[in-house]
Amino acid sequence: MNTTEKNPNATLSVSILSGKGGVGKTNLALNLGFALFRAGHRLLVMDFDVGLANIDVLLGLSPEKNLQDLFRPGVVAEDVVLSIEAGGFDFLPAASGVPELLEMDEDMREALFSKLNDVFSRYDYLFLDHGAGISPNVLSAASMSRMPVLVVTPEPTSLTDGYAVIKVLSAQYKVRNFHILVNQVASPREAETTFERLASACERFLRLSPSFLGGVHTDPAVPEAVRRQIPLMKFAPKCRAAQDILNIAVKIHRHRQKLGQKLKTGPILKNLLERAS
Ligand SMILES: Nc1ncnc2c1ncn2[C@@H]1O[C@H](COP(=O)(O)OP(=O)(O)O)[C@@H](O)[C@H]1O
Ligand SMILES: [Mg+2]
Repeated sequence: MNTTEKNPNATLSVSILSGKGGVGKTNLALNLGFALFRAGHRLLVMDFDVGLANIDVLLGLSPEKNLQDLFRPGVVAEDVVLSIEAGGFDFLPAASGVPELLEMDEDMREALFSKLNDVFSRYDYLFLDHGAGISPNVLSAASMSRMPVLVVTPEPTSLTDGYAVIKVLSAQYKVRNFHILVNQVASPREAETTFERLASACERFLRLSPSFLGGVHTDPAVPEAVRRQIPLMKFAPKCRAAQDILNIAVKIHRHRQKLGQKLKTGPILKNLLERAS
């Protein structure tokens, strides 16, 4: 880990969510992170897909420690965080197939995030890569982050499952500020029409208006980068999907600038108890 100084700026927590699995969350979390790092920001990508963690696989790493170790006495966050790129692109691995993590209750999550808050505060961005669906881990962590990003594809099943995530988070956790990213599109127009379909259902039935973060083309370089275990932004920075990801990273950066001072108050992941009240 390279960042020992406290970040003088405020950290934006970004949750990457989806209803359906396999829509591209992990690739997007990693590569949006990479794009922001290349633009000079300090960044921590946290694998919070505690069921099927796999950012380590995308990077070709075999972490010795992971989130689970943070529950052991004497283990501090610095022991678990790994460097992806020198200069402030770091990674916090999760464990796969560990029921204790999957079944975390609110007290455990709160203890975990309180333990991590100091480390989070050293970065400009904290990206949380979640598992798909509406498990308690996903819902509570997403509701605590400042910028929930829902990833959908143009497939109707991805849209209906994505709508279900918005519905539950808005009804049970009062989250209303959703940002929609449409992955695996054939054209910018397809990204827009997919967003419009989802947004009109949200407006009509939930009375909320999500923001459009942008679309990412279906691109053969993405699975190729996965096979080679190199982040797409490094493997093929000029390909279409990488260019789209770059544009979305710029929008996320603008959002952080817009939030500005607001980010400086309170914990980086908003308190569970505060949120539930
Ligand atoms: N824009 C894209 N173009 C082509 N393939 C993609 C794209 N985004 C994701 N994929 C492929 O979809 C699969 C699932 O991606 P992943 O990031 O693991 O999804 P999730 O984390 O949502 O389960 C991967 O094999 C990846 O190569
Ligand atoms: Mg994933």
